[in-house]
Amino acid sequence: MYRILFLCFVVSVSSKFAWKHHNNEELPVVLEEVHQKCPNITRVYALTEPSVRNVPLYVIELSDSPGFHQPYKPEVKYVGNIHGNEVLGRELLLGLADYLCEQYNNNDRHIRALIHNTRIHLLPAMNPDGWQLSTDAGGQDYLIGRNNNHSVDLNRNFPDLDAITFEFERQGISHNNHLLRDVTRLAAPLEPETRAVMRWMMSIPFVLSAALHGGDLVANYPYDESRSGAPVSEYSASPDDDTFSSYNFGVQGGVTNGAAWYSLKGGMQDFNYLATNAFEITLELGCDKYPLEKDLEKEWHRNKDALIAYIWKAHTGVKGIVTDDSGFIQNAVISVVNITGPVPKPIRHDVTTGTYFIIN
Ligand SMILES: *[C@@H]1O[C@H](CO)[C@@H](O)[C@H](O)[C@H]1NC(C)=O
Ligand SMILES: *[C@@H]1O[C@H](CO)[C@@H](O)[C@H](O)[C@H]1NC(C)=O
Ligand SMILES: *[C@@H]1O[C@H](CO)[C@@H](O)[C@H](O)[C@H]1NC(C)=O
Ligand SMILES: [Zn+2]
Repeated sequence: MYRILFLCFVVSVSSKFAWKHHNNEELPVVLEEVHQKCPNITRVYALTEPSVRNVPLYVIELSDSPGFHQPYKPEVKYVGNIHGNEVLGRELLLGLADYLCEQYNNNDRHIRALIHNTRIHLLPAMNPDGWQLSTDAGGQDYLIGRNNNHSVDLNRNFPDLDAITFEFERQGISHNNHLLRDVTRLAAPLEPETRAVMRWMMSIPFVLSAALHGGDLVANYPYDESRSGAPVSEYSASPDDDTFSSYNFGVQGGVTNGAAWYSLKGGMQDFNYLATNAFEITLELGCDKYPLEKDLEKEWHRNKDALIAYIWKAHTGVKGIVTDDSGFIQNAVISVVNITGPVPKPIRHDVTTGTYFIIN
């Protein structure tokens, strides 16, 4: 599924992570250094397609079974730098990879438990070409480098599954999950970065995800699109609204329904929710899209605990396997009913079991 990587860098084993803006050549070196320090719990891979300018989209996986999905181990991902000029997430994810590895090796019980029970995938840069353009322009422009090299905003380029599910709602059809097969036409051609991330999302049974942006200070959750599709700000609740808006995800200020903030079409967050089992939220890490190098470490200390606590959220709720006499059942549909209130309340967004189990 993924291209095998042949990274021929000379890596010193004692390499120490540095807080700086890592360019597109340095990024895979950092990942490879983490892998050298933690070979048993990491794997570096590239998505199936590179960027427009042919930069591979590198991911580092942290788990005690690199390369394999295991029952009861939720799959979590973080995606950084989807907007090329929003660069903090990229550095935070490189720092997070290094931190998890270091703490694992230091026998940090909390981090060891996290890695033994979770499969974590970090994609620091979904839009390396935009990063380059933005950086070459000095990094301080509000728009330069936001889009990919075809001038496409990748966070508007996903198939608009909201429109499909809202149309089903109007017709009284309750079908709002795994909707990719219901796409009959695309508003715009898929960009290579979008396609690569879509294949990644469809091939690993992710349950939790966040995309790291910058330019504001807010966390938002599905739906991102208004029910009318109009570019207005109106609350657009998903069937899991109680979960997204509950204290589990945060009732502090600065957490909002996506469309209540502003409506957008073709975003990655709602695509996760409507095409896969993954709950994704969008994190706007701060008003400065391209912080100064000297501030990166301070930003890390501000965000570190939240980034780790969010991964633990993958262990909220129920996990298990669906079997019959012949073994695991793939693609079994699971309907959930909330029975904590006075009246049982179905959560009308089914999830499915994974399509494969590989146990090594
Ligand atoms: C990796 O695992 C092997 C086998 O369990 C062990 O001998 C080795 O020390 C581990 N390496 C690291 C860096 O933890
Ligand atoms: C595409 O990349 C090239 C090389 O980095 C750059 O000169 C050009 O401005 C980019 N175009 C767009 C639309 O980003
Ligand atoms: C379940 O229902 C209770 C009572 O109505 C509500 O407070 C809670 O948020 C719901 N939880 C979920 C996950 O829907
Ligand atoms: Zn953004």
